[in-house]
Amino acid sequence: MKETPAKKPGEDPASEASLDGKPYRSPVVAVLGVGSYTPERVLNNEDLERMVDTSDEWIVTRTGIRERHIISEEQATSDLGIEAGKRALAQAGLSAGELELILLATATPDQITPATVCHIQRELGAPRAAGFDMNAACTGFVNALMTGHQLIAGGGFANALIIGADALSTITDYEDRESCVLFGDGAGALVIGAGDGPGVVMDHIVGMDGTGAEMIRVNAGGSRQPASHETIERREHFLRMDGRKVFRFAVAKICELVEEVTTRNGLSLDDIDLIVPHQANLRILEAARRGLGLDADRVMANVDRYGNTSNASIPLALDEAAREGRLQPGMLVILVAFGGGLTWGATLLRW
Ligand code: COA
Repeated sequence: MKETPAKKPGEDPASEASLDGKPYRSPVVAVLGVGSYTPERVLNNEDLERMVDTSDEWIVTRTGIRERHIISEEQATSDLGIEAGKRALAQAGLSAGELELILLATATPDQITPATVCHIQRELGAPRAAGFDMNAACTGFVNALMTGHQLIAGGGFANALIIGADALSTITDYEDRESCVLFGDGAGALVIGAGDGPGVVMDHIVGMDGTGAEMIRVNAGGSRQPASHETIERREHFLRMDGRKVFRFAVAKICELVEEVTTRNGLSLDDIDLIVPHQANLRILEAARRGLGLDADRVMANVDRYGNTSNASIPLALDEAAREGRLQPGMLVILVAFGGGLTWGATLLRW
């Protein structure tokens, strides 16, 4: 286990912080708490066998997914985010009243306006908190974490609740066997705050390539094609994707991002204790793991029990890794995401 670098109060974090003698790329912002929530209702592969022409064997072989959690009729994305947020705050020992910023990464907002984060702020009871929603498809959580980190490092806020929450079941076409087996609902959250701590957010890489915008999309319901009887009849409010192209992009991006964030921080892959990738498909995770030459215990995988929960998947997996004791203070962790847009991102954390 690596030692937390000593830092005196009042030191300029950007210039003084170091990791084993190597410089951080960003000012010091601590990780204070993590939490997650998934709805109670479970949709397993046998349920899907009764809905579309598929089989448990096909789904497990091609995706590694066995079950996913789905919201109840009373729930929306904000309800998932609220619960995950409460759990992360409890672990951080911070009251909602002390929160200064809430950022919600979601691709499935409760409604077009107001921002879903407003519902979360109200229900958490966080009157001091500013906030906004962010949409970068499945990469959103890493973008939100980077934004919160930089806003705190810039001195504007003392702390932030970063939530990734999605109810993908609400945009999933349960008549499309290729996509409906993949997705689930859930939320995860991190509390971060100014200053050093046992955990530190160290670096981010984010990017996008809009030429790939057609690869994963929901065609209707926005300003390009507002909702109409015709768009509903054509089932254009559901998510569509080119699965094979996304698969190849995802494997290549995970490997590229892990290598880049590692080398630019003066580290080698051997220094990284755990990689927490976006959980889209076990075969994607396995192919990337083999590409990087890593053992299974260094890549977090829980897609078998949740499916692809989009913005929730990384904090959900991180929370699970922490609760399983796979994260010890000082460990180096890489979060790595990819998604529609196309978008991608990676975060380096010291736990
Ligand atoms: N059950 C049974 N058969 C299915 C099926 C299902 N649920 N879904 C597709 N098939 C069929 C196809 O129709 C195809 O049949 P055909 O050969 O007769 O045409 C066959 O299975 C193989 O399809 P293919 O597309 O080659 O499968 P695949 O191995 O690429 O797996 C995905 C499909 C979608 C699971 C895979 O491409 C994938 O996971 N892609 C990434 C998607 C993703 O992660 N999106 C979100 C990113 S954030």
